[in-house]
Amino acid sequence: MGVLAIDAGTTGVTALVVTEDGRIDARGYAEFAQHFPEPGWVEHAPEEIWQATLAACRTALDQASTPLRCVGITNQRETAVLWDRRSLAAPRRAIVWQDRRSSAICARLREAGHEPRVTELTGLRLDPYFTGTKLTWLAENDPVDGDPAIGTVDSYLIARLTGGARHVTDPSNASRTLLYDIVAGAWSPELCELFGVPMDALPELVPNYGEIGRTDPDSFLGLDLPISGLAGDQQAALFGQTCFTPGDVKCTYGTGSFILVNTGDQVVRSDAGLLTTVAWEDPSGNRTYALEGSIFVTGSAIQWLRDGLGILDTAAASEAVAGSVPDSGGVVFVPALTGLGAPHWDPEARGTIFGLTRGTTRAHLVRATLEAIAFEVRDIVATMDVRVMKADGGASANDLLMQLQADQLGIPVERPVIQETTALGAAFLAGLGVGVWASPEELRKTWHLDRRFDPGADDGTAYARWRRAVDRSRGWA
Ligand code: G3P
Repeated sequence: MGVLAIDAGTTGVTALVVTEDGRIDARGYAEFAQHFPEPGWVEHAPEEIWQATLAACRTALDQASTPLRCVGITNQRETAVLWDRRSLAAPRRAIVWQDRRSSAICARLREAGHEPRVTELTGLRLDPYFTGTKLTWLAENDPVDGDPAIGTVDSYLIARLTGGARHVTDPSNASRTLLYDIVAGAWSPELCELFGVPMDALPELVPNYGEIGRTDPDSFLGLDLPISGLAGDQQAALFGQTCFTPGDVKCTYGTGSFILVNTGDQVVRSDAGLLTTVAWEDPSGNRTYALEGSIFVTGSAIQWLRDGLGILDTAAASEAVAGSVPDSGGVVFVPALTGLGAPHWDPEARGTIFGLTRGTTRAHLVRATLEAIAFEVRDIVATMDVRVMKADGGASANDLLMQLQADQLGIPVERPVIQETTALGAAFLAGLGVGVWASPEELRKTWHLDRRFDPGADDGTAYARWRRAVDRSRGWA
């Protein structure tokens, strides 16, 4: 029996067929377009996400050697999507989590004194990253006629998968919207009013595994399967890494990097710039929480070297190019290309490169980019009590980055055999939901170490330079 996991990420959709013993049986991937209509704006066409989902699933299903038992979904979080409840067509493009257009709305609400209450209810802060102020922006600047459904990418995909039968989301996704009370475990009428969001347009809340819906064969490749697992991608990765015990930590290196520590049933508040968020909720309504450090630009900085500057042929080549020099030659790159997330939270920060000389080569710049990722993650992990960090996501395959990371953290970094833990987590949730696996404990047996990176000596000079550079990148926009 296999589980089909759909991971609708920021730049593309991955579909995996996962077997009962936690192996990957088949895989599909399809990219979709990124739209940048104005500086600082990022949009996705929902229809393109859906077409990429169909394409990725078709590829995976063509290769699969095992019959499917159920479907699990995971997704880029916070992105605001609107669609027509009957036709399922989207009246406009989605506003992506990276989009900064609601900065001024955040500043306005902060000046009006709303932030402490918003943080108390949601565990988040007033930053354009989250869904709430994107919806405020839409209501104020580009209202949509009629009564569209509102949701995040998970809700939209489930609407499409079920032929419009279900309009749902889960607590891990809801806890990123600024509209969900993380202690009560419900949409907050107070927050909906503050952000100008009609509460009846929001999805119904369902637990992270169990009965969520059923795919409609006419809409989804002829398949009639239970959708039995669902989570935002970072929480799914925490689950996929089997970080089930309070204190377990993972970092996923994707477009951005997201470090989550499981805090069990405790709603832990951070005064160091971390977010409090729901990790998952079981079918009995028991919630597990996490503290999260969200870094917006890490893997996408490598993509920028490739696509924006044209100094890399592929993202994977960054390892060899960076490894061709012993250090960055004094170059420091702060990749604040969409502002800074945790722990600095400065939407006005912008990317900056310091320390260029006549001797600087592309290798120094590429190495400075890998170092920046390691420094950014260190800035977060330094605020947590961590003895070992599990790493996953695309860039975790980069051995040089993983070694730099361990050196900077001063603790071991462990990389599992399966690094697509986001999709794996969605598969685990879905499998638990229909009894493919009986309990999370059973899943621990499927986690296998690929490589452990132990920290080497580091004299702290490069990190001290990084801290100075971050200070100078702030407030630029
Ligand atoms: O919060 C944003 C996050 O969910 C995006 O993840 O992997 O698509 O970069 P990713």
